[in-house]
Amino acid sequence: MNISKSAIYLCEKIKMKKSILLILVALIAFIYACNNQSTESTVQHEPATKEELGAMLFNDKILSQGNQVSCASCHIPAYAFSDTVALSKGVDGKLGSRNTPTAMNMSARNFFFHDGRAETLEEQAVGPIENPVEMNLPLTEAVKKLNADKNYLSYFKKLYNEKPTKENIADALATFERTLETSNTPFDRFMKDDESAISESAKRGQKIFNVKGKCFDCHFGPDFTTDLFRNIGLYNGKELNDVGRYAVTKNSADIGKFKTPGLRNIAVTGPYMHNGMFKTLTEVIDYYNEPQKFVKGSINIDTLMLTPLNLNQQEKEDLLAFLKTLTDDRFASVARKD
Ligand code: HEC
Ligand code: HEC
Repeated sequence: MNISKSAIYLCEKIKMKKSILLILVALIAFIYACNNQSTESTVQHEPATKEELGAMLFNDKILSQGNQVSCASCHIPAYAFSDTVALSKGVDGKLGSRNTPTAMNMSARNFFFHDGRAETLEEQAVGPIENPVEMNLPLTEAVKKLNADKNYLSYFKKLYNEKPTKENIADALATFERTLETSNTPFDRFMKDDESAISESAKRGQKIFNVKGKCFDCHFGPDFTTDLFRNIGLYNGKELNDVGRYAVTKNSADIGKFKTPGLRNIAVTGPYMHNGMFKTLTEVIDYYNEPQKFVKGSINIDTLMLTPLNLNQQEKEDLLAFLKTLTDDRFASVARKD
């Protein structure tokens, strides 16, 4: 081996060692990151406000048993904070019995959950943490976990002047949720006198929504909800057996009533209804057009729903076009076409 050859040989050896070293470093970093995930938060930067702290908690699996799911696992931010499946998976893959509604446009609501069992966002926010089929973590445990996390401990001290408690966790989550309002839609631009913001079909659809379809009787106001509990026929005591509001009030008049949901971003938040039984808005419209054709033996159905609407194909399409104008621009790319 002459000098130059041995020099090349040496270089090759060093290179190899270098790459092995690099792989080793990467592996250690990977193992460290994986381990770290289960004990520390996935926080990227220090939150400057309560709202940012709430956003951090919303996206952090730390609030669930075994760090398995976060609020955002079911309320997916890219889908207007709702899920894309009928029933979401909680810890250990457990399925709940109700569809995940959007967590947006909640600031004007006075009831939460499909049956309205919570009356403030603070009260609502801690519900999913303890729910066995959602995050399944006793609140005292959640509080302990955040106190044991040095990042969260310092954030709470800075923003609330105290350690994490049940109350300030709820406050941070609710403060974040109150910011999730969407009014950047073609419909809002139309209402502000931009005639060209929505199609002619959608304009006809708005009229059908207000009059012939009777939708407006239950879905009105800035977010298209009266916040009242109504029975649209999705309870028959057989395959449809969620009693809805009745579980909260025990008043027999409330059997099968559910909270009338708002309709902003409705083309993004399917599947629809408390149980996610309709995949598309077309199915929803077909149902409203003639409820009795789809559900036999509805109990306690609202009188508004007793006679078929008799919408023809064009009217159904117009109504659909109108509903699609309620999508905030930021979600336009994931909105359903049907
Ligand atoms: C496993 C999925 C899952 C997780 C995790 C989850 N949610 Fe939910 N969320 C749901 C379901 C399902 C409902 C409806 C439950 C019902 O009506 O009984 C709901 C309802 C809500 C509502 C009420 C919406 C309305 O229209 O009344 C809000 C707000 C909300 N969740 C926020 C949160 C927050 C905050 C967290 C985290 C602390 C969270 N959710 C975690 C599935 C989930
Ligand atoms: C009698 C009151 C009432 C009338 C009339 C009514 N709705 Fe509803 N709407 C409700 C209630 C209550 C729910 C929730 C039912 C459930 O969760 O099972 C609902 C749910 C919906 C949903 C699903 C929302 C979601 O997030 O899952 C859509 C879409 C909808 N309505 C559109 C319409 C349209 C379009 C019309 C007119 C053709 C209409 N509604 C007429 C009360 C009404």
